[in-house]
Amino acid sequence: MSRIVGIDLGTSTSEIACIVEGTPKLLPNRQGKLITPSVVHIGQDGTILVGEEAAEYLFTRPDCTFMEVKRLTGSGETLKAHGKEYAPEEIQAMLLGYLVRCAEAALKEKIKRAVITVPAYFTDVQRRATAKAGELAGLQVERIINEPTAAALDYGLSNLKDCKNVLVYDLGGGTLDVTVLELFEGVIDVKASSGNNHLGGKDFDEIIMARLADPEKDERALMRLKKAAEECKIALSAQDEYKVSLPFLLTGKDGKPVSVEKTVSRLNFEEWVREKVASTKEPMLSALGDAKLKPEDLQVVLLVGGSTRIPCIRSLVEHTLGAVPRSLVDPDLTVARGAAIQAGLIEGSINNEDLVLTDVCPYTLGTAPLKYGVFGKRLVFDPLIPRNTTIPAEKAMIYTTASDFQTSVVIDVYQGESSDPEHNERLGELRLTGIPPDRQGKEQIEVTFGYDMNGILQVKAGVVSTGKQVSAEISTTGVRAKPVLDLSTWEKAEGARQFRPLIRKAEKLIASGRDMGDDIKLLVDRLKESLLLQNREQADDLREELLAMLEVMEKVGKLVP
Ligand SMILES: Nc1ncnc2c1ncn2[C@@H]1O[C@H](COP(=O)(O)OP(=O)(O)OP(=O)(O)O)[C@@H](O)[C@H]1O
Ligand SMILES: [Mg+2]
Repeated sequence: MSRIVGIDLGTSTSEIACIVEGTPKLLPNRQGKLITPSVVHIGQDGTILVGEEAAEYLFTRPDCTFMEVKRLTGSGETLKAHGKEYAPEEIQAMLLGYLVRCAEAALKEKIKRAVITVPAYFTDVQRRATAKAGELAGLQVERIINEPTAAALDYGLSNLKDCKNVLVYDLGGGTLDVTVLELFEGVIDVKASSGNNHLGGKDFDEIIMARLADPEKDERALMRLKKAAEECKIALSAQDEYKVSLPFLLTGKDGKPVSVEKTVSRLNFEEWVREKVASTKEPMLSALGDAKLKPEDLQVVLLVGGSTRIPCIRSLVEHTLGAVPRSLVDPDLTVARGAAIQAGLIEGSINNEDLVLTDVCPYTLGTAPLKYGVFGKRLVFDPLIPRNTTIPAEKAMIYTTASDFQTSVVIDVYQGESSDPEHNERLGELRLTGIPPDRQGKEQIEVTFGYDMNGILQVKAGVVSTGKQVSAEISTTGVRAKPVLDLSTWEKAEGARQFRPLIRKAEKLIASGRDMGDDIKLLVDRLKESLLLQNREQADDLREELLAMLEVMEKVGKLVP
């Protein structure tokens, strides 16, 4: 079996490591550096540059040079270069590919397998998108692990005798993760995670930028400003004042060049970012609460990520937890080291009797029962796997049909903490057809949620009486922006003709304003949608369902036209 590498795919910087003689070792990039800026440049002729070489183009060709792409993971947004569109996963794949090639050069062997880290607070969709990036880079993704958990693995391996409660506070370029875990002689038991997927050093840069100038749409000026703001922020971690100097940054309205000269003090900076910094307190308290611990129960606070070098961040952590956070791990490299340790546990180069890891799911996962048929419209979030359940986890729930003669059900899958599903994130849906028509509540439907070691959800559903089962990796259609379809054009879709008599009949019934009109309309719309999307299989399914529903209606005499 070939070797497995561990990769920290960060918002600002990325690192790659593997196990050499039982300990994690960082592997250098082409410049001989262990830290690679997460920047990708795509040239006119398709050449791809990554890292420092790409970063040079941020100023000259910002239109085809990408940074901080991780924040777009799973968003469905695309990036454009030379008129071509790229998914964030594709850009991330270029970054991964580069790191792997550097590692191959350093190790003088081919690499096909990897463990990739993600923020603990990444959603299901973001995890899948990260795994996809790995696949696009030609890698077999052996495991997706949480960044703070990786840091705990790194700490745990060097402190195998420790028995301690640990809080990891990881603030990087784009994300905040707080994880509470218990370490017991090499057993790392993650108790709870919390965080914010959209908070990090880049936000502090943007706050400084806004105070310095407003280059509007001048991309080049924006990049210079961003660089200066980050330099200012980093300098202020070590000194009290910093002078920003950006000669001829912009062209003013009068056509004259505008320069920026401004001295920023650490106090200024702390004032500007106060609210953002304070907002990281709640996740600390929430993770502690979920772990059923008080600040005084903590023995170790691990600071991870470049932004934890900011003094007011350190004070906030210290103030909140009442303990002095100590930098017991290398804040820049520890996540990649931990990823390599996880890789070592899988490939067998680290003894998994010495080090054992459990992790949790960061969000509550559940359904919003039920749809279709004649029943109340209010949907309620029904949690199956509560947040911070140890993974892997499996949970089954029995539901019954909600209406008379119901033949199908759509199981909506949500993640979040609100009792109102509308306020949670919809991950997707699973359709189960072929329920024997019967009175309301007679047929049972079993729904099973499985949450695997990668933090990825599998959903199964079955009709208890017939044993018919369907299962799905939850698709991301509910989260990605759906193509906007004009349903009125359905007749132009290929193969639509055969469906015309049925749709016409159903529409007549809808127009007659009967009881079940809403439910029929839902089905008809979905049928039109599948026709437009050329999803023939689904269209056939829906036809069957619509026929069954119309038949049932006629039988019970509710709706004879
Ligand atoms: N001395 C410093 N003072 C303040 N900020 C710093 C310092 N050194 C680095 N940073 C900031 O840390 C961030 C990068 O940290 P890091 O490399 O840990 O993030 P990342 O792993 O790429 O991001 P994430 O984990 O959020 O995906 C950048 O915003 C950088 O400006
Ligand atoms: Mg990081």
